[in-house]
Amino acid sequence: MLKYFSLFILGFIFFACKNTKQENTKQDNVKHTNEVKEIDDPHSFSKPKISSVKHLHLVADIDFTNKKINGIAKYFLNPNFGNELILDTKELEIHEVNLVKGAEKKKVTFSFGIHDSILGKALLIPLDPLFQEVEISYSTTKDAMALMWIEKEQTDSKKFPYLFTQSQSIYARSWIPCPDGPGMRFTYSAEITVPKGMMAAMSAENTQKVNQEGKYKFQMKFPIPAYLLALAVGEFDFLPIGSQTGVYASPSIVSKAQEEFVDLQKMLEAAENLYGKYPWGRYDVLVLPSSFPFGGMENPMLTFATPSILAGDRSLTSLLAHELAHSWSGNLITNSTWNDFWINEGFTTYFESRIMESLYGKEYADMLSTLGYQDLQKTIQNLENNSPLSKLHLELNSQDPELSLSDIAYEKGKLFLRMLEEKYGREKFDRFLKAYFNEFQFQSMDSYKFENFLNEKLLHSDPKMQSVVKEWIYEPGLPLFKPSYSNSKFLKVEEEVKVFLNSKSVQNILGAKYSTHEWLHLIRQLPVDSTNFIVKSIDSKFALRNSGNSEILCAWLEYVIKNGQTKTYAKEIEKFLRTIGRRKFLMPIYTALQDTGNKTLAMELFEKSKSNYHPLTLESISDLFSK
Ligand code: BES
Ligand code: ZN
Repeated sequence: MLKYFSLFILGFIFFACKNTKQENTKQDNVKHTNEVKEIDDPHSFSKPKISSVKHLHLVADIDFTNKKINGIAKYFLNPNFGNELILDTKELEIHEVNLVKGAEKKKVTFSFGIHDSILGKALLIPLDPLFQEVEISYSTTKDAMALMWIEKEQTDSKKFPYLFTQSQSIYARSWIPCPDGPGMRFTYSAEITVPKGMMAAMSAENTQKVNQEGKYKFQMKFPIPAYLLALAVGEFDFLPIGSQTGVYASPSIVSKAQEEFVDLQKMLEAAENLYGKYPWGRYDVLVLPSSFPFGGMENPMLTFATPSILAGDRSLTSLLAHELAHSWSGNLITNSTWNDFWINEGFTTYFESRIMESLYGKEYADMLSTLGYQDLQKTIQNLENNSPLSKLHLELNSQDPELSLSDIAYEKGKLFLRMLEEKYGREKFDRFLKAYFNEFQFQSMDSYKFENFLNEKLLHSDPKMQSVVKEWIYEPGLPLFKPSYSNSKFLKVEEEVKVFLNSKSVQNILGAKYSTHEWLHLIRQLPVDSTNFIVKSIDSKFALRNSGNSEILCAWLEYVIKNGQTKTYAKEIEKFLRTIGRRKFLMPIYTALQDTGNKTLAMELFEKSKSNYHPLTLESISDLFSK
């Protein structure tokens, strides 16, 4: 699923992995309280122990002409604040800082810490005990990694431009000066002004309708970390799905999206049945333009999603189950730092497949799980033996948190939980997880804290299981465990591939009856095809080259490129690279082109397509070309 990340990771020289922190932070008796704790976050300059933030009120004007957000971020501090407030910034212009008390304002002299190419720089604001509010006037710059500005000519209707943010992992600081660590939570409200006629939406309570004056107000009543701050401005409509759920998308696709996401409310109810009430109120999905670099992003109350999930047959909606699951694992209980990213993604990937199983049955969910398990095995194979990046708990220090983005967090994390489920039985394990979500809501979680809770509530200090758990969390590689996923459908695919290869007759493949997942499994089974026979016969019968399913098309194009068919498929490859903006799909194609001696072509296609790519995607592709 995330296999290209592992390729990146291989490119990095590993750092010495220190175990000292593990020793220091291990807690024997964890107390679960809401008080502000010292958070030692290697990816944030903020020091909440000195002064922490309770609420953000953002007043911002979206200037499409100059591609700038001009904002005033007003922070309400928690009581007992110290003599300084430290916020994260990256490529921001700070104009003025005032301390505020009622109508009184006091301008202060702020300063910056040293610039770090990954983390940006600290904004240091001297405080006065008499003023509990801080107002920062600022503008974003053209280098803001979180911002994707789209010209109106590049949108469906060509009537309005578009802007969307992507704050995870550490890019909120490039559009708002903020305490930008996942362990630092605050509530927020916002007043956003956009050009007349345009719609705006945030990860908060939304109005659902266009305001003709271009003035929008938002409120997020629950404390969230900065990486969940999100804004989109463009032309989009809302259509309801269930009582609590709905979809926003550009007028030309909103009905299609409503059809595709028809089970969204059922998913939400299935999730509630598993692990407790959905606490956020509404759950809506915004379908973004194609340049959105991810599949989905779990912005609270308003998941952002790629349009590439609109396959027409609802076959890619596990992505919705995934982002919805984050409403519990991630948004309600959040990894303390990006070193424990698996606490967000591993739990969510496990939870996702439980939602899928509730709705569509075990056989269907297990096909998805098997594909994920295959990805994991491949990722482990591609990493060096004992690579510290194959651990669940990472020690990234001040390295780019992007390094944590791999199948390790997602699929090894999920497999660990699956192992516990199989060991203790579903009933006990579900009771444990429900207690976990209840106990730690709106709090941070790290590996040690989870290990303690697990030990107390499920392992009951069984020493053998304690060491098994330690191996899963803190050791590299994969412990011995094979999940009991049902595999009858995939076995049938494997059988058909064998018969096809032996008989050289594609008639033996029952592709017309295949689900997306069976197709993906089939493509993964295909051997190297030096004669072009496989590519030709499969495509002549099933026309995968014209597939409207982004997952199938990506896997197929990657296969044909790797098998020397780039020229024959030039048109399809170009179309794919020009219309898809999701990094997960672009990277394997560019990588395959580069690896098969087609780098010049890859670079030409990149030049033609890059105006449709997000800054994060541009960065990844440039990194690839520089190898
Ligand atoms: N939160 C992630 C996306 C993310 C992770 C963005 C880290 C930036 C940094 C989201 O929940 C996610 O995992 N998306 C996946 C889809 C999912 C079905 C595996 C994606 O975008 O591919
Ligand atoms: Zn996720």
